Amino acid sequence: MSDQPSVPPAAASEPEKSAEVLEGLNYLKELPRARPHIHETRRFPNGFLWGAATSSHQVEGGNTKNDWYEWEQVPGHIIDGTVSGRCCDHYDFYEQDFDIAKSLNHNAHRFSLEWSRIEPEEGKWDMNEVMHYRKVLEALRARGLKSMVTLWHFTLPKWFADKGGWESGQAVKLFERYAAFCARELGDLVDYWNTLNEPNVYLANSYGIGTWPPGVHNPARLIHVFSKLCRAHRAAYKALHRELDGKGRPVQVAVVMNIITYEPYRRFSMLDNIFIYMADRLFNRQFYNWTPKSHDYIGINYYFHYRVKALPKRSSQLFYEVHTENRETSDLGWEINAAAIFDAIMGMTRYKLPIIITEHGVASADDAKRPRVIINALKEVYHAIRAGADVRGYIHWSLIDNFEWEKGFSGRFGLVAIDYQTLKRTPRRSAYVYADICRENGVPHELLHFVGHGVRW
Ligand code: FCB
Repeated sequence: MSDQPSVPPAAASEPEKSAEVLEGLNYLKELPRARPHIHETRRFPNGFLWGAATSSHQVEGGNTKNDWYEWEQVPGHIIDGTVSGRCCDHYDFYEQDFDIAKSLNHNAHRFSLEWSRIEPEEGKWDMNEVMHYRKVLEALRARGLKSMVTLWHFTLPKWFADKGGWESGQAVKLFERYAAFCARELGDLVDYWNTLNEPNVYLANSYGIGTWPPGVHNPARLIHVFSKLCRAHRAAYKALHRELDGKGRPVQVAVVMNIITYEPYRRFSMLDNIFIYMADRLFNRQFYNWTPKSHDYIGINYYFHYRVKALPKRSSQLFYEVHTENRETSDLGWEINAAAIFDAIMGMTRYKLPIIITEHGVASADDAKRPRVIINALKEVYHAIRAGADVRGYIHWSLIDNFEWEKGFSGRFGLVAIDYQTLKRTPRRSAYVYADICRENGVPHELLHFVGHGVRW
């Protein structure tokens, strides 16, 4: 032990520091320091909504009267060759699924009404289906879960699609009539409304690249449908308020938008920077700019961070490439950048409205990435609130695995895994991580081991 440094005896008063000691102190100053951090749970505002989302066609099963059913039958349309079919049979298992959500401490649930069930033929309402959705809403209420109801989540009744879908001259009126009907029949049980889900994604896929029904690839028709969707949203917004205002419950209506955060591939490229400025304006904000005074809150779905290289000439169908090299990606090849949800939120604070994260999630069949994605995103939601954003809730996509549109059943987004042979439901590890967060109304410090070192809190 002779090479141990000897400890100097304690001095009565502070002695003058020798040159060696001063040098030692300077050396200490240069050592890397642990960032100051707090061990308490980072709590969210009281009454914060915690839950998960689904949509009718992606989970119910047996939806044969809409345009997606037809689309799926054509070979090549669904990449993995599956069809939605019986799906998760959530139509029959909704009570079990809500039991699971409740046991996981959720206090809210977002789902969509299937227009083609409620109005299977033009102007004919199916009251059995209305009854079904009343039972769904009552089941949520009985379990203490707040409901968020989407009127349109991508699927159109076959009869409506046959008339030309959103391009039809009657589209806005027909959607408004459907919205008003749902308000009258179900409004007493609904806490939050969404008119349209992600009109921006729908336009890109259905009228831009044409991978979704009606499979159109035509900019003029895209702009036409864009304006129709804006009018449809405004008409539905007004109809919901007309039917429900003054009936003793607050009426909260929003469109839900997919917000993409962008980064230039070439930092100093004028082209890349101009492209991302335009993309942010058109994709994220144009809908709001064309629908003033018709939003009670902002619904943000966040999945995509694009590192974009703009192309001077159109290549195949697009004007840009998204690069993911040296980036972590999900099972579907989408870049994982949960932390950028901060920018997605702050960008939308310009509208000075409450914000709800209406979807956020990751395709990760083995669940390796989901806990970290949830925690990283929630860290940033917490910071966005501290930075002044009025965020009122976080709804994870999805409660259960489901039919991921043109990708088929291969994308596994569920907190709860579905065995499609037996329909058995099994919560994944991430479901319990999220359950802790929901229970604590915040992120407990212990959960940070899921995100590794270098955590910024
Ligand atoms: C969103 C959709 C939702 C689901 C997730 C993964 O864009 O709203 O239906 O497909 O992506």
